[in-house]
Amino acid sequence: MSETWTTLKVLDWTANRFTRAGIPSPRLEAQVLLAHVLGCDRTRLYMDFEKPLGDDELASYRGLIQRRLSGEPVAYLVGHQEFWSLSFQVGPEVLIPRRDTETVIEQVLDQIGARDAALRIADVATGSGAIAITLAHELPSASVIATDLSQAAAAMATDNAARNQVDARVEVRVGDLLAPLAGEAPFDVLVSNLPYVPAGDIEGLAPEVQREPRLALDGGDDGLHLLRRLIARRAGAAQRHRAAGARARIRPGRGRARAHRRHRRLRAGADAARSR
Ligand SMILES: C[S@@+](CC[C@H](N)C(=O)[O-])C[C@H]1O[C@@H](n2cnc3c(N)ncnc32)[C@H](O)[C@@H]1O
Repeated sequence: MSETWTTLKVLDWTANRFTRAGIPSPRLEAQVLLAHVLGCDRTRLYMDFEKPLGDDELASYRGLIQRRLSGEPVAYLVGHQEFWSLSFQVGPEVLIPRRDTETVIEQVLDQIGARDAALRIADVATGSGAIAITLAHELPSASVIATDLSQAAAAMATDNAARNQVDARVEVRVGDLLAPLAGEAPFDVLVSNLPYVPAGDIEGLAPEVQREPRLALDGGDDGLHLLRRLIARRAGAAQRHRAAGARARIRPGRGRARAHRRHRRLRAGADAARSR
């Protein structure tokens, strides 16, 4: 007689296998993948924990387990990631939005004052659109222009704006740093989460991080190449804006310190995975 694989048994087996493979949050990842296969949310799994899985469900789940074990991030496998309680479509063409990046949203909200002001916001290097879309969601009168060098990332950000019902106020443009904003009136807020990993460190990152686009990680020799270029271009733009009697704001300083902290954590994750 063939073995019966109930929800609970499958989860226990997978969490155990993921633990041995050094995957961070093994049980959580096992649950997220199984919930994806069964088309339910994670809490539902434990309501039906004695339920046997069908052959097709088991086959799909096994396929995802193999892919996860080979290094694919769980967010790419299920095709979406939560950020600021909103849902973003993600795939190998974009960086998976990180919880840390929510601090950028908090800082902007802290600094702008009234939430119903008709602010003009620019999000440079938008990736999945996480920052641009979340700000548009939180600031109902704001309009946002987001840029990215990657055409594929820009397409996904555009889809994500529609998915989160802010597409009327979020425009995504393709191009280098501030270039797609040339000729625009001054912005009230300029935000950016640029690639910040020193090029020589990328190979040492955790396997799932290395599956993310190199364009989203590579910050040049010391990780600060794009930040320097952005500040230099922003200084030129600010001069023109001042000449026109306008005011623009950018706060790169905290971003740099945050980048260093996050980079240390990415490395720590990779070191932990290697030591298992
Ligand atoms: C670290 S990811 C940030 C994505 C998103 N803002 C977030 O926080 O999740 C950096 C993004 O910068 C983009 N990028 C890299 N070089 C760029 C450049 N020269 N100009 C514009 N975008 C660039 C990448 O395609 C990637 O989407």
